[in-house]
Amino acid sequence: MNYRHAFHAGNFADVFKHALLARILVHLTKKDAPLRYLDTHAGVGVYDLSGDAAGRTGEAAGGVGRLDAEPPTGEAAALLAPYLDAVARLRAAQGASLYPGSPALAQALTRPQDRLTLCELHPQDRAALAAATERDARVGVVEIDGYTALGAYVPPGRSGAGSSSSIRRSSRRANWSGCRRRSCGRTANGRPAAMRCGGR
Ligand SMILES: C[S@@+](CC[C@H](N)C(=O)[O-])C[C@H]1O[C@@H](n2cnc3c(N)ncnc32)[C@H](O)[C@@H]1O
Repeated sequence: MNYRHAFHAGNFADVFKHALLARILVHLTKKDAPLRYLDTHAGVGVYDLSGDAAGRTGEAAGGVGRLDAEPPTGEAAALLAPYLDAVARLRAAQGASLYPGSPALAQALTRPQDRLTLCELHPQDRAALAAATERDARVGVVEIDGYTALGAYVPPGRSGAGSSSSIRRSSRRANWSGCRRRSCGRTANGRPAAMRCGGR
């Protein structure tokens, strides 16, 4: 696994994808019913565009950098508002050079009743993702092939992610990065925490 998204974060493709994701999440959270967000290829979660990796490619300059330099107006501003608001909130809270990957956007645009399952195979990126999300009890970071996760966790509910049967099935393949529930504690490589805590 050679690919590292830190080199490409905030590029034009990220902007397009993340703007769309933000609008989808705003739409899906209009109803009170909880949702489960499954990110099959999660990445790190938050990227530092002033860091070495982003600096080497300079790709962000052609993506989010263009929006920073020339903020959209009119219809474009309205369409991009959920995405731009989430980017602005992250920067205000954590640092002006940061850029939210899809997990951070999903965290920002979902509610307490929602659950997020983030799949990442790269060990370093998974560790960074687990660290970035560890205070959020709604999030589970999983070492599992994202394509396998689709079969294991979809549909959510009785036979999907969060059900005891799916947790038992998927835990044979998945190595949960840890449980976020205080009462459960964290296990990184031992028995999957999800089997004890109910599926985060
Ligand atoms: C394009 S990046 C992620 C970008 C992220 N979704 C975002 O929008 O901010 C793809 C990530 O998927 C991981 N990856 C690649 N193949 C995978 C697979 N089969 N299952 C899970 N993760 C995978 C890579 O390590 C990389 O971090």
